[in-house]
Formats: sequence, C-alpha cells, structure tokens
Amino acid sequence: MSNIWARKSIDALQREASGEDAELMGSSGAHLSRSLSLTSVTCLGIGALIGAGIFVLTGQAAAEYAGPAIILSFLVAAVICVFAGLCYSEMAACCPVAGSAYTYAFATMGELIAWMIGWDLILEYAVGAVTVAIGWSGYVASLLKDIGLPLPAAISKAPFAFDPHSHSWSATGAVLNVPAMLIIIGVSSLLVIGVKESARVNNAVVLMKLAIVVLFILAGISYVNLGNWVVPGKNPGGDFIPPNSGEFGIYGLSGVLRGAAVVCFAYVGFDAVSTAAQEVEHPQRNMPLGILLSLAICTVLYVAVSYVITGIIPFDRLNDPAPIAVGANAIGLFWLKPIVKIGAILGLSSVILVLLLGQSRVLYSMAHDGLLPRAAAAIHPRFRTPWMVTLVTGAVVTVLAGLLPIGLVGELVSIGTLFAFVVVCIGVLVLRMREPERDRPFRTPAAFVVAPLGALGSIFVMAGLPLDTWIRLFIWLAIGLAIYVFYGRHHSRVPD
Ligand code: ALA
Repeated sequence: MSNIWARKSIDALQREASGEDAELMGSSGAHLSRSLSLTSVTCLGIGALIGAGIFVLTGQAAAEYAGPAIILSFLVAAVICVFAGLCYSEMAACCPVAGSAYTYAFATMGELIAWMIGWDLILEYAVGAVTVAIGWSGYVASLLKDIGLPLPAAISKAPFAFDPHSHSWSATGAVLNVPAMLIIIGVSSLLVIGVKESARVNNAVVLMKLAIVVLFILAGISYVNLGNWVVPGKNPGGDFIPPNSGEFGIYGLSGVLRGAAVVCFAYVGFDAVSTAAQEVEHPQRNMPLGILLSLAICTVLYVAVSYVITGIIPFDRLNDPAPIAVGANAIGLFWLKPIVKIGAILGLSSVILVLLLGQSRVLYSMAHDGLLPRAAAAIHPRFRTPWMVTLVTGAVVTVLAGLLPIGLVGELVSIGTLFAFVVVCIGVLVLRMREPERDRPFRTPAAFVVAPLGALGSIFVMAGLPLDTWIRLFIWLAIGLAIYVFYGRHHSRVPD
C-alpha cells in the first residue's frame, strides 16, 4: 500500500520529460513524440478556449445573471485565469510532462491530493467535451434547418432536459443526441491517429474561428448603441448593472459574480495545453508562452464580443443558444449569420479536440503511475499516441453526450476547473517554500501575491455557483476518494 503523501521528485519528472527514463515508454517501448511548436501550442490554447463559452453561454449569462455587466464578468474571470495561468506556466516549465494539474499536485502535495485533482479534471475535460459536443449538435441542427434540411428532433436532442432554475427534469420525447455522439467519435479517432495530425487540423480550424470572431466584432462595432447598457435601476439615469432580483446571483453584484463563474467556461482549456507538455518542442519556453499568449488573445476577443453583443441587442433578448447569430440578424447582417454558425461549428470541434487530448493525457499519467489499470497507459507502436485511454475516454464521452442535457453539465465544468486552479496555485507556493533554490525556467512574477490571489479568486468565483453544483462536485470527489482507497492506493507504483 502506498504512502498517501508520497511525492514525485521534480528531478525525476524532468528526467521523464527529457525521455531518459525508460519508464516513460509505453508497454510497447514506444514513447510520445515531441512535435508541437510554439504556434501549435498557442493554437491548441486558442483551440480549447474559443468555443461554447463565447458562442453559446455569453448570451444566457447576460440575459439571466449579469445583464450588460457580463463584460465585467468576463474581466473578473480573465484576471483569475491570468493569475492561475501564470502558476500553471511556472509548473508546466518546471515539470514538462503529461498530466497537468495532476502531475503538479503529485510533485507538491503528494499522491492522494494528486489523485483527487486528476479525478476532478475529468469534470473539466471529459464533461467539458460532453458540454461542447451538445452545443456543437445545437449549431449543426440549426444550420441544417436554415438550409432546409431539418434533423428530426428525436435524434438530435437528449432524452431528458434539466432546468437549473427549478432544478427539475423533464422528458423531451427525443431518443438520443446523435450529432453530439458523432463528433466525439470523429475527434477521438483523429486523436488516436496522431497528435501532430490533430494539431495540424487544429491550426487550420483556429485560424478560421479567429477570423469569424474578428469579423463579427468589426462588423458589429459601428452598430453599438450605448443606450442598451442603461437599465432602469436605482439611479435616475439608469444602471449598467441591473438591480438584484432579490435572489443571490440574479443580477446585481452577485449576478456579475455568477456571470463570471458561468463564463469561466469560456476560459476552460488554457490549462489543457499543459497536459501535452511532453509533446512540445522546448517546453520550458513554449509552454508558458503558449498558455499566456492564448489567454491574452482570447481575453481581448471575449471582452470585445461581449461589448458588441450587449451594445447591439438589449440583454434580455440574448437568451438564445446562438446569441452571436442573433446579433448578426439584429443589425441586418443576414449574410453573417451562416458564417457565424459555420465558425461556431468549426470552433466547437477544435475545443472538443483539445479537451479530449487533455483528458487522455491526464488519464495516461494516472494509469502510468498505477492509480488506474496499467493497461490504459498503452502507447500505440505506430501512431505513438495513448490509444487505449483515448478510445475508452471517447466511448464514455460519446454515451454521455448522447444522453445528457447541457443545463446539467456546464456549471459542473466551471466548478471542477476552478477547483483545479486552487490546487495549482497552492502547489506553486508549496514548491517555492520547499525548494526555493530550484532553477525555474519560468517564474510567476510576485508569486507570493499572485498565487494566493489566484487561489482565493477562484474560490470567490466558485462561491457564485448554485448549491446543487457544489453538491455534485462533492459527490464526484467522494466517488473518487472511494476508488483511491479501494484501488489506487493498493496499485500505486510511485515509490514512497
Ligand atoms: N473554453 C471552451 C469553450 O468555451 C471549453 O467551449
């Protein structure tokens, strides 16, 4: 039985990263290939970031929680993600091996916390991929309808709907969300074939979605009517933040906070880049740069999109699964609507790709350490990808994407991700105190301020989420703890 506080040494992780350690190899003797450049890493980051958060959730978060002040929610979320991103960068440069927050927690806080955070990351990556696949299916159905080829509802929706406000379930009459399942099957197959091939496809897709987001901003900016930002409230002249409805999280400052927690989804994924650290060229330089560049580019775009969208449409009309297409219509730019939809479909595909890539790399690391069955760490002798874990993840996510409603999964992804941020920020502090002399290729500036603020800020935003999301997080973590106690602890291969 292993010691639950056993830590991995950073030196061993660095040896692993440089490929000196034969243990890095899969059972076939093959190892992951180092083929991603800085451009590819940055594109992976942007690929993971711009997706359902901006294309689907922005409108809902503005309409239901923050009003025009959704712009502030995006800024609050950005500040926290930048703090967490700086901490991820320090850790990613120090331990450039697959596994992200799981590996960092192993190096700083020991096996139990590492397992728990690895388990938590399933909420971020696998459940994130489920959420985005459902959004993807919605956009595909809507585009097909626009061109006169409507999909039957029975095969394009989940069998159940969940209303997060009344916490109630209802039957939709549908059988399965088939498009959501198909996109997961397609992306998982691509990931088995090779990370380089996947990255190439991703780079092209990222360029297209960036172009479409920028086109929307440029086309819409001249139609912004600042009158849409003035909401009747306490001030005689109107307010920018709609007055609180009497319920926590519905407008007012608490609404801005809940809006930040919801749009955090739009920033989910910058850390997925760090899971591929073992496949990056010059990881010490390219990992932090890739993370920070993708975060900076997306923050500017998100703030600009929310400025334009709330400026052209009154916020209470934004509760639509395709708010940006609604925006294009509202200003009479009908030609932009199909382009936005195609952009969203491509954009969401690349998000799914990066999230599934991240998930398979975290599970690969956990299986490699013996905390999950070792067979899952098999690397394909020809493709050099962790094919077994990629296929198993793909199968589970396919089934969930076919069955679950979007209302249930989105907030779970945000809370799971913020929890991982807390652990990584604390990990940076622990390592600074324990090994102050260690050479750090990237140092978080003012780490003793930035890391605690990153952790506290994440907890603060988590507090904006409803109680049932918290309960689901705790249930998920309790299941993870039970698996560790009954399986992982007895099979761990990490020396004490
Ligand atoms: N950031 C990703 C998205 O918004 C997960 O879809």
